[in-house]
Amino acid sequence: MSKVAILGYGTVGSGIYDVLTTNSDEIAKNAGEPVEVKYVLDLREFPGDPVGEVLVHDFDVILHDPEVSVVAEAMGGLKPAYSFAKAALEAGKSYCTSNKELVEAYGADLIATAAAHNCNFLFEASVGGGIPIIRPMRESLTSDRILAITGILNGTTNYILTNMASGKKEFGEALAEAQQLGYAERDPSADIAGGDASRKIAILASLAFGKDVHFTEVYTEGIENIHPEDFLYAKKLGMAIKLLSDTRTIRQHYYACVAPMLVDMNHPLYAVNSVYNGIMVQGNKVGLLMFFGSGAGKLPTASAVVSDIVEAVKNPGRHLPVHWSEEKLELSDFKTSVKRFLVRVSGSLEEKKELCERLFAPCKYLEVEELTGEFGVLTRTMSETEFEEAAAQMPGLITRIRLA
Ligand code: HSE
Repeated sequence: MSKVAILGYGTVGSGIYDVLTTNSDEIAKNAGEPVEVKYVLDLREFPGDPVGEVLVHDFDVILHDPEVSVVAEAMGGLKPAYSFAKAALEAGKSYCTSNKELVEAYGADLIATAAAHNCNFLFEASVGGGIPIIRPMRESLTSDRILAITGILNGTTNYILTNMASGKKEFGEALAEAQQLGYAERDPSADIAGGDASRKIAILASLAFGKDVHFTEVYTEGIENIHPEDFLYAKKLGMAIKLLSDTRTIRQHYYACVAPMLVDMNHPLYAVNSVYNGIMVQGNKVGLLMFFGSGAGKLPTASAVVSDIVEAVKNPGRHLPVHWSEEKLELSDFKTSVKRFLVRVSGSLEEKKELCERLFAPCKYLEVEELTGEFGVLTRTMSETEFEEAAAQMPGLITRIRLA
């Protein structure tokens, strides 16, 4: 019998408790022994909830109990999560977390601590909610050099974009629903402005390339500047607008970015809608792989944390190596990367065509019936710098979206 402690009894923490108690037979079979929740740590009381029987308010009770071999954390944030993780690992207890802030900021450090104390720092739930992506990268894609990863890594923004595209809901209403459904971060600006997705792509880039990538160095745009009108152009083009996270290596250079992009209907991520996430991984031998599943939500995320608990229980006293060193990975300047852009311009195409030709040709023009007083231009493939220079010379430029 293995005993675990859960830190935090919020959306994901209570989900972990639920999965461990209701799927106990399956978990016991897979882990090779029963797994019991000995403690749940939370500052709050939960009157009437059976969790009361195992509720504690002091982390030291867990830390100093030799029976607890695995700690699962779903508190989020760096304080006190980092000191709890460090102390648990130093005590030889494996630590399984859904906390992407912690993994992004201290992943390499905590993996090294786990290695030094023959236990494991596991973080399947930190990227892609319920999708198995970390374990496949650690254990299955070990014969490949990873060339690129492109994904929809935030469930909340995908839920909002999907609803806006269908015209069923406006931004605010869709966000409120995503919050109610337990998809959004406590401060949803982390979802909307792309910070959550950039942490997740930083984690995947660190794993893919073996060195530490910091999310503040990932070029990041959120969905704040996506408006209902943009979906009319997307529809006309037969495309969808998705918040894409991307990292790739090209001739010894490494890139990472997060931005809303137009994807055409042949793109594998086109049909990834609602709270679902999709992650494409390109290996130099295996070719293209695609992972799909619920990217957020109580039970999918909890299921991923519990899969880590099972892995920890199956490997007592044994560190499972993870190729993620503390050495920093230098990312190349995003401005050198190239794309096509959809540009919305106010005014009439007739008047501005000559200038558009000069700045963006060879280009294509679009007019949307529902929108008067503006037109769209699909530019040639340009570098970010080249585009910025051209855009600065275009009067009445309303907005621009990149094409994937
Ligand atoms: N807020 C996150 C999302 C939760 O919407 O994807 C899962 O990490």
